[in-house]
Amino acid sequence: MNKLCIVVGGSKGLGLSLVDQYRTEGYEVWDCSRSGKGAEHVYVDLSKRESAIDAIDRFFADKAKATYDEVLLIVNAATLTPIGPLSSSEPKTWWDHIDINLTMPISIFGRFQTHFNDASCKKVAAFVSSGAATGAKDGWSLYCATKAGVDHFLRTMALEQAPLKHPIECVSLNPGIMDTDMQAAIRQADESQFSQVERFRAFKTDGVLVSPSIVATNIFNALHKPFENGSTLNVGG
Ligand SMILES: NC(=O)c1ccc[n+]([C@@H]2O[C@H](COP(=O)([O-])OP(=O)(O)OC[C@H]3O[C@@H](n4cnc5c(N)ncnc54)[C@H](OP(=O)(O)O)[C@@H]3O)[C@@H](O)[C@H]2O)c1
Repeated sequence: MNKLCIVVGGSKGLGLSLVDQYRTEGYEVWDCSRSGKGAEHVYVDLSKRESAIDAIDRFFADKAKATYDEVLLIVNAATLTPIGPLSSSEPKTWWDHIDINLTMPISIFGRFQTHFNDASCKKVAAFVSSGAATGAKDGWSLYCATKAGVDHFLRTMALEQAPLKHPIECVSLNPGIMDTDMQAAIRQADESQFSQVERFRAFKTDGVLVSPSIVATNIFNALHKPFENGSTLNVGG
């Protein structure tokens, strides 16, 4: 079997565990990020949307020339910055956040359709979402809004794809709480910026954060059995 897995944000945390998991399973795996390394890495800075979409476009066009039995796209990259009410940060930082977490995920899923709609193999477009997509948290307004936005985009994309001859299956993944750099950044927040910061610090000291490798295995298993098109799957530990 000739299987392709593309992880946007595969350089660390859950993304790196996904890269490892799918390589172990025999996939050709590519990471699109800023700090990834190796031959199967595409440099992409999602806060620079024009150069980022050009790089993604070239990469998708190249991969679409080959014939695969399965093509899986997982958009995992995200930022939490800036944390706090918007009165304490500048619009430029909001726009970077929105580009990384919303504009670019939607653009990447859009270009995935452009390049892979005609491919007749199994195709999956997956988005790593968050409980914050449905549960509002003070200090995380951009993150909550952007995660909810991409989830809803994928529900709509699922409807658009369903009647096509070779539809892409769409799914959001809620990974629960994992022991990664993103959690470390949350613990650094000031209580005036994020009222639940003590609770999140306790997640670490109480040992309840889950290893991203466990979540990556859960994702692999969840995507290799039937799931409802456009749904959100809980893949936490
Ligand atoms: N950790 C948790 O508890 C938790 C909970 C719920 C949901 N999630 C979600 O799970 C996913 C993975 O989170 P994580 O905890 O593994 O995060 P992480 O360790 O901070 O890794 C984030 C990934 O996103 C990439 N990324 C960030 N900014 C980017 C940019 N401007 N351009 C390109 N890539 C960028 C990073 O790559 P580079 O830095 O190399 O560019 C990295 O590969 C995220 O979608 C997050 O929202 C995490």
